[in-house]
Amino acid sequence: MSTQPLAVVVLISGRGSNLQAIIDAAAHDLPVDLRAVISNRPGVAGLERGRQAGIAAEVVDHTHYPDRAAFEKELVRVIDAHDPGLVVLAGFMRVLTAGFVAHYRGRLINIHPSLLPAFPGLDTHARALEAGVTEHGATVHFVTEEVDGGPPIVQARVPVLANDTPDALAARVLEQEHRIFPQAIRWFAERRLSIAHGVVLLDGEPAIRDQASAA
Ligand code: GRF
Repeated sequence: MSTQPLAVVVLISGRGSNLQAIIDAAAHDLPVDLRAVISNRPGVAGLERGRQAGIAAEVVDHTHYPDRAAFEKELVRVIDAHDPGLVVLAGFMRVLTAGFVAHYRGRLINIHPSLLPAFPGLDTHARALEAGVTEHGATVHFVTEEVDGGPPIVQARVPVLANDTPDALAARVLEQEHRIFPQAIRWFAERRLSIAHGVVLLDGEPAIRDQASAA
């Protein structure tokens, strides 16, 4: 029995290097149908990456709407026209309302450049260096109402090196983002992920082992 590839819509705000990692994985063997790339900012590099890959590239410019609700209403309309089974936030820099999150509950994932719950929010690399941590990294997680607070699916760790700069650390983390984001999407597409008591399970076992006791 052949299985249908998972329909995916990717939301971006900028460069789109994570989008590119997903495009490259899909060109290889990631079982997804990339239906659209949607940016809240016009003219960004990620839109061109989408076009180059033959994917619909659309803009819903948040500055054209009077408030967040009006922006999201249009965003939902544009996303849902592609009927996605999964919506991927790949460097999408708008805070989403509870209504939006509820609409896509269980099929909305994000990548965040830190080992959540450490360093939610912006400027994670500079903050990690300031805090003097020895390890940093990235997290792919399901999205909930709490910004950067949803249950993690997969994390990648990198060492913080002596004399690291935010840019050097960001580059080390980004390399890992490009590895774990397609990985998480693959697990989702293969229906290997579930959520129980706020913990993500992979094949029925906690996807992130050391969070199991926190449930
Ligand atoms: C990534 O570091 C991602 O984790 C963060 O924003 C950055 C987006 O980079 N949310 P890109 O647009 O995928 O290159």
